[in-house]
Amino acid sequence: MRRKLVVGNWKMHGTLAQSTALLQEVVAATTELSEDVEIGICPSYIHLGLAKELLQNKPLLLGAQDLNSEPEGAQTGEVSASMLADFGVSYVIVGHSERREIFQESDQLVVLKIAAAQAAGLTPILCIGESLEQRQQGLTEEIVIAQLNAVIDQVGIQAFDRAVIAYEPVWAIGTGQTASPTQAQEVHWILRDHLAARDAAVAGAIRIIYGGSVKADNAKDLFLQVDIDGGLVGGASLKAEEFISICKSAD
Ligand code: PGA
Repeated sequence: MRRKLVVGNWKMHGTLAQSTALLQEVVAATTELSEDVEIGICPSYIHLGLAKELLQNKPLLLGAQDLNSEPEGAQTGEVSASMLADFGVSYVIVGHSERREIFQESDQLVVLKIAAAQAAGLTPILCIGESLEQRQQGLTEEIVIAQLNAVIDQVGIQAFDRAVIAYEPVWAIGTGQTASPTQAQEVHWILRDHLAARDAAVAGAIRIIYGGSVKADNAKDLFLQVDIDGGLVGGASLKAEEFISICKSAD
């Protein structure tokens, strides 16, 4: 039985005061949450320290939104996997479509980041997904499988032994246009089936979460799908009440 996982991706949002208030509200509500659901919060780097302090001894895990693929070095402005692990971070988002698009991150770089994260003991959350144009052209399966294969070919199927996959159709991110539970389940099944052809145990154990306009009012139906193991939540994770409601929907 896979434990459900809900991760809040705060992106580049929040002042110190706003982030403090949000964390406090989420923490205060954790007593209402079931232990069957694992919850992670990925604030910006600058608020990781704050989050670490406020999440101490709470059933919430700390995550980062990105990392550099190199172990250390002259990389002004960057943060390495070992720095994150040393700081107490558990999860790191890798290959988010915003990074692929805005910062031109290639599959190759994404693979290096996955390997770096795992070498440091972090659990990467690998984001994959098709654009609207690709979906309209019927290329969804081809695109997500290519993104998955980039990792399998370079690191091997064991890369998914300790990783999470987030299926995030680009057209659903921040648009309010969520994939329907059926549309999402279809892709999640394709991904799990593809992994199963290489290693059934890995495929059965890995959590494949959905991201793209997950909200309090659509989370339950998404999370009820057999291959959807939780959510990566952007906008709705910035409102404590809504985020908590999404976490409850995963139970
Ligand atoms: P959204 O973002 O929930 O605001 O669509 C999801 C994500 O980018 O991870």
